[in-house]
Amino acid sequence: MRTVIAFNTGWLFRPEQVDDSVPDSHFEPVTLPHSNVLLPHHNFDNADYQFISTYRRRFTPPALKAGQRLFVDFEGAMIASTVYLNGARLGEYRGGFTPFSFDLTDHLVPGENLLTVHLDSRERKDIPPYGFVVDYLTFGGIYREVSLRVVDACHLADVFVHTAGVLSEQPRVVIETTLRNMSDAVRDLALRADVLDSDGVRIAQIETAVAAPVGESIARQEIALRQGDFRLWTLDDPALYTLRIELFEDGTVHDRLDTRFGFRQARFEPDGFYFNGEHLPLIGLNRHQTYPYIGAAAPARLQRRDADIIKYELGCNIVRTSHYPQSRHFLDRCDEIGLLVFEEIPGWQHIGDDDWKALSLDYLRAMIVRDRNRPAIVLWGVRINESADDAPFYTATNALAHQLDPTRQTGGVRYIWESQFLEDVFTFNDFGIPLREPNHTPYLITEFGGHTFPTKSWDQEERAVEHALRHARVQNQQLGMVGVSGAIGWCAFDYNTHQEFGSGDRICYHGVMDIFRLPKYAAAFYASQIDPARRVVLQAATVWSMGDRSGGGINPLVVFSNCDEVEVFIGDESVGRFAPDRETFPHLPRAPFVIPMPHQHMIWGRALADLRLVGYLDGQAVAEQCIAADGLPHALTLEADDSELAADGADMTRVAFRIVDRYGNRLPYTNQVVTLEIDGPADLIGENPFALIGGQAALYVRARHTPGVVRVRATTPRLPPVEVTITLREA
Ligand code: GAL
Repeated sequence: MRTVIAFNTGWLFRPEQVDDSVPDSHFEPVTLPHSNVLLPHHNFDNADYQFISTYRRRFTPPALKAGQRLFVDFEGAMIASTVYLNGARLGEYRGGFTPFSFDLTDHLVPGENLLTVHLDSRERKDIPPYGFVVDYLTFGGIYREVSLRVVDACHLADVFVHTAGVLSEQPRVVIETTLRNMSDAVRDLALRADVLDSDGVRIAQIETAVAAPVGESIARQEIALRQGDFRLWTLDDPALYTLRIELFEDGTVHDRLDTRFGFRQARFEPDGFYFNGEHLPLIGLNRHQTYPYIGAAAPARLQRRDADIIKYELGCNIVRTSHYPQSRHFLDRCDEIGLLVFEEIPGWQHIGDDDWKALSLDYLRAMIVRDRNRPAIVLWGVRINESADDAPFYTATNALAHQLDPTRQTGGVRYIWESQFLEDVFTFNDFGIPLREPNHTPYLITEFGGHTFPTKSWDQEERAVEHALRHARVQNQQLGMVGVSGAIGWCAFDYNTHQEFGSGDRICYHGVMDIFRLPKYAAAFYASQIDPARRVVLQAATVWSMGDRSGGGINPLVVFSNCDEVEVFIGDESVGRFAPDRETFPHLPRAPFVIPMPHQHMIWGRALADLRLVGYLDGQAVAEQCIAADGLPHALTLEADDSELAADGADMTRVAFRIVDRYGNRLPYTNQVVTLEIDGPADLIGENPFALIGGQAALYVRARHTPGVVRVRATTPRLPPVEVTITLREA
């Protein structure tokens, strides 16, 4: 029977390549996920994280019964891992985004064993995405979780479950189980499959006899259901089911594996995307998996939170995992909350030699096998992002994707309009305004914006507003185009990058949120598309000053809101009640308000009064926003995303600080230094003191291994200090 043991604590780390003779005292104790270096959020050198490091883990293996095997499973280590057990080299895995395993069994010794990883985090040209320039960073470290796995000689290697005909009279669950028989004879086994709902109640079961030859074999089972037996997985009600597979031999259970799935139908058609039979226009953003300070080594909580931000704070219905397979925790959350995903293979514009292409095919296989049970995923990206044509290579990637997953369509993100259309969906990065008319269908816009209009959260108002309006214009246009399935903007969050890209400080300021996942005005545009029944949004895109824009004044005043009317007051005086600009943005569910501002309030020498907005829905006042005209720092604020963490040495939460006006609006041009202090069994991760930029930033609190109460206190000159409390629970 399978046992899985988390293997994330008790590691030792040294930021150079050393052999097993170096004493443990020369190492630093670390917990996974781990970044090989902590960095400032910008202004670092791309050499800083590129080195070979040594990870070491001493352990006493669990007792193995006859025939059992012990594996070590790595979920992701950046970027090439050479693994040794007790000095014996088990192999090298090249690749940072996909899981890999080694069989430890034959090299185990009685008592204490030593697992060593030489982790090469240099940007090696032989490993995708490298070989040419890349506009993102991969960073370094064993940045995802590791576990030990004990299995019987006959075990389950993989379970692929999909549904068919979910809208028809003959809905079915189709199961393909890969059995691995590591014994030396054919075995007569039985496979039992249970479908359980989220309360653990069984809705279906099937049992099948299988003869498992030595090596790997695939067993197929099919369960017929009726309408009414199950709930569909929808974006508003993402009902998840568990498929439990048990492998028996003469009544003994050899293995059990649970995998989550959902009943849903997703299809890109010539006239758009259809989800569960209904046309669903896609509005989304691209996401990189990296974070300030910690690179890619974000624990589950932060990964999951990104999905929440994209769905609930930005109102998107789809995310693209640009440009590689992302954390299972992020994808788990997408499955749980109903956020669709376009997942793609690692790469960036460059195609390497045959060995490099073979690795890409391996990554494609690993990505699909890892993630094909996820209801959230609706499209596989089988082309290196924005690469040139390569018919043999991309014929092979498409064929492999279809073979591994006959249920999903493929896309291949391109910027070459005339490039070969080998995939099922023509996925194009259209950086122009207006957008091009589709040349092929089905058609999906996979990037726009981005480098054509980088915008920092402290940029001058007219740029920040224009940035938001560009997103609004493109989304508006795409929603009105026949044959366009949707548009996924570039991008959700500012991200760290190489010297060749971005603003020279190692950041591409292309996000609708900053690198800390704190909003720019463009975030308010996306938020304003949310159904007001879920959340009312009312945000003026202005710093409310007389002279920030070129030429001065605040005309027009742009407001992002899902209210149907907005009343504007300057001081006590009503300027009027306004409707959204549906003429300019006829296709958006919620058009922005573009409000002409009367000149008499903007006269030089006359003090400007506070702005007050009131949002109305069906004639009822439902939201208010005020912005102080004095522009003065009124308070320092400090907010932790979570009030509780697990004391597991890895769990983290963001603590965001802002300097705000009297009404709580961030002041984007303040640059006061903010100092944080922490008290209790946790560490602050980030630059401290922080020279505030954009009026907002964040650090992270990382739990140590002991439960307790943590207090974080922030101070800045001339404003009262603020404090948050976080409780660390037993892990
Ligand atoms: C695209 C590319 C993205 C990013 C973006 C910036 O060409 O696919 O990774 O670099 O440009 O706008």
